[in-house]
Amino acid sequence: MKLVVVLLCATFYFALSLKDGLLPNGNFEHSPKPSQMKGTRVIHPHAIPNWEISGFVEYIKSGQKQGDMLLVVPEGASAIRLGDEASIKTKLKVTNGMFYSISFSAARTCAQDEKLNISVSPNREPKDWGILPIQTMYSSDGWDTYCWGFLVESNEIEIIIHNPGKEKDPACGPLIDSVALKALNPPKRPRGNMLKNGNFEEGPYIFPHTSWGILIPPNIEDDHSPLPGWMIESLKAVKYIDSDHFTVPEGKRAVELVAGRESALTQIVKTVPDKTYDLFFSVGDAKNSCEGSMLVEASAARDIVQVPYESKGKGGFKLAKLRFKAISPRTRIRFLSSVYHMKSDNSGSMCGPVIDDVRLVTVRRI
Ligand SMILES: *[C@@H]1O[C@H](CO)[C@@H](O)[C@H](O)[C@H]1NC(C)=O
Repeated sequence: MKLVVVLLCATFYFALSLKDGLLPNGNFEHSPKPSQMKGTRVIHPHAIPNWEISGFVEYIKSGQKQGDMLLVVPEGASAIRLGDEASIKTKLKVTNGMFYSISFSAARTCAQDEKLNISVSPNREPKDWGILPIQTMYSSDGWDTYCWGFLVESNEIEIIIHNPGKEKDPACGPLIDSVALKALNPPKRPRGNMLKNGNFEEGPYIFPHTSWGILIPPNIEDDHSPLPGWMIESLKAVKYIDSDHFTVPEGKRAVELVAGRESALTQIVKTVPDKTYDLFFSVGDAKNSCEGSMLVEASAARDIVQVPYESKGKGGFKLAKLRFKAISPRTRIRFLSSVYHMKSDNSGSMCGPVIDDVRLVTVRRI
């Protein structure tokens, strides 16, 4: 009997040591026992295998009805719903000192201004939690995937997803599914490029089954970015997309500027004042029914270029360049979409131009 217990623990430990991808029961397919539920509500704190819950948490089956709304689930057959002040958490073995990015899918179910608080403990730094706004929908079927980056300072962490909402109706809480983690390599500057992760190949985990990309939330500073090397300024998210589900100009990953002038992708780079630099980049469309006259604005120091791109929504890109003269030892490279776009598929979802393959070089002779 004792031996069995030891073996079980060994397996359990092994299952919890980290590989990139879905967390153990990260898609909530292992369900609570019927005796641990009351209707859809989960009563016992440890009823959902690998998770601990607190507050009003429901276990939702795909196809379940809420009023006249049919609840669908992005992965498998089940998801959970977090009521007001409810949370779920899970413990994981990680590598001390590494950066990680968590990815998860969420759907709001009512019109309210919903948010989620993602945190990691032990958290010595105040930045080890983040509020992710989920009120703006970017995909057509209600689900969006979000990510958040953090540094771990322990070999074992606890990840907590909390709904800080105070709605009266518990059925208004957000649905959560598919929670994954990815270890991020520290961003490097490749030869011939002064920028880190200029081709966006290093970034959060993208689920093979989600065809809507990943939102990188606003107000992300570079020391905690799920997109290493890059910051997201201003109020809205940018979308991280992959070549399995979209067309990208180069490699496997790129960024779609989905929020017009309300989101900017930036990187700060060391420069020498009065020196001239060339910033090369690709502007295209993701082959996602995002059509129209696009305009990408790139700026650095006092220089700015607006790159027009005519999108038929069928994929494609062009090369662009900004030549600028540095005016200080640090220069902020910045990209935004000057125009707002919506998909032509009647989904009403926001979309925009794609940026990829960003390179910065010193101009030796002019
Ligand atoms: C988010 O969660 C963390 C950890 O539980 C907590 O310290 C922080 O105050 C929360 N933030 C908000 C705005 O609720």
